[in-house]
Amino acid sequence: MFKSILLIGATRVGSFGDYVAQELIKDSTYFSRVGFFVDPSRPADESKRARLRELQAAGFEIVESTNFASPEPYKGFDCVLIFLGNHGLYMQPTIIDAAIKAGVRHFYPSEYGADLTVGENWTQRYYKYKVETREHLTLRATQVADLSWTAYVLGRLTEWSVISHFGFDNKNRKARIYGRSSGRQSLIGAADSAKYLVETLKEPLSDDSKGKQRTYRISGSNPTYAEIFEILERVTGKKYEVTYLDVESAKEEEPQAKRAGDIDAELAASHKLIQGREGTLVPKPWDNDRFPHIHPKGVEEVLREAFATERTRKWFGLE
Ligand SMILES: NC(=O)c1ccc[n+]([C@@H]2O[C@H](COP(=O)([O-])OP(=O)(O)OC[C@H]3O[C@@H](n4cnc5c(N)ncnc54)[C@H](OP(=O)(O)O)[C@@H]3O)[C@@H](O)[C@H]2O)c1
Repeated sequence: MFKSILLIGATRVGSFGDYVAQELIKDSTYFSRVGFFVDPSRPADESKRARLRELQAAGFEIVESTNFASPEPYKGFDCVLIFLGNHGLYMQPTIIDAAIKAGVRHFYPSEYGADLTVGENWTQRYYKYKVETREHLTLRATQVADLSWTAYVLGRLTEWSVISHFGFDNKNRKARIYGRSSGRQSLIGAADSAKYLVETLKEPLSDDSKGKQRTYRISGSNPTYAEIFEILERVTGKKYEVTYLDVESAKEEEPQAKRAGDIDAELAASHKLIQGREGTLVPKPWDNDRFPHIHPKGVEEVLREAFATERTRKWFGLE
């Protein structure tokens, strides 16, 4: 399968790509070459600089480039995995075209979330650049023989599901949720999801996925909001005051945020609609059974660990 892989956007400590990198560090002997694309013109705090030193010490290649559009950094890699965050997603078609020129024939686009084909997800602002990227790959596959890509569908990462961006005020034990207490979502811990992702890299492409998309749907469980708050209350020992709001009322927030030029608020409003309509519930069947040696932790265990970790506590607004 893929012997040489390049990860983009995976060196910020605590990002999803960083979780994948941490899994690769544990055992990367399967791959002959693992590189990390690093743009040296981007800001780097001490934790990122330390991470880069760790990756180099573990034998990984740091591929420095300030130009995503040049084929040069992608040369010699079979597969490029993109982990760019929301503000960088628009660059994916440029990256894909440059990497194709360099000879890359498989991509993991920066998705790692809901199934884009479920409900109204395909037309939501939150997924605009993810959809455009899939469309771009579909187009390029009509022009480039043997081009294929992996859609890695996980639902939501448990650690991200309880942050302020999604209506949680953990410091004051309050939450404003668009939807109902019975609303469900699919959750999996970030480290477990990263473990599964690394395993998918080792699976050969089937004949059906050559020249097109292969999809993995891998998650952990489908708790309701009521269940999530019961867990949070056990984990923190405190009661949460939860206000449930009409999902459709979030529709007005998105154009308001757009007019104000606030992209994060626009994305948050769009996510409220997706989440409130259960758009992050991953349809079954799931592919977890392909990797029976992985036993994902439950929501409570993941949150207990995250609420006890300094980095994630800060991120939850607790310190
Ligand atoms: N389903 C879920 O619950 C969930 C949760 C988290 C993430 N995800 C998905 O995982 C992927 C990565 O998300 P993340 O939250 O880990 O990302 P992130 O931390 O926001 O960003 C990852 C990296 O992308 C690079 N980047 C971001 N904006 C950029 C720009 N404008 N120009 C150049 N580089 C830019 C940055 O790299 P440098 O600054 O280091 O250069 C950044 O460290 C996304 O597809 C996201 O939707 C899903």
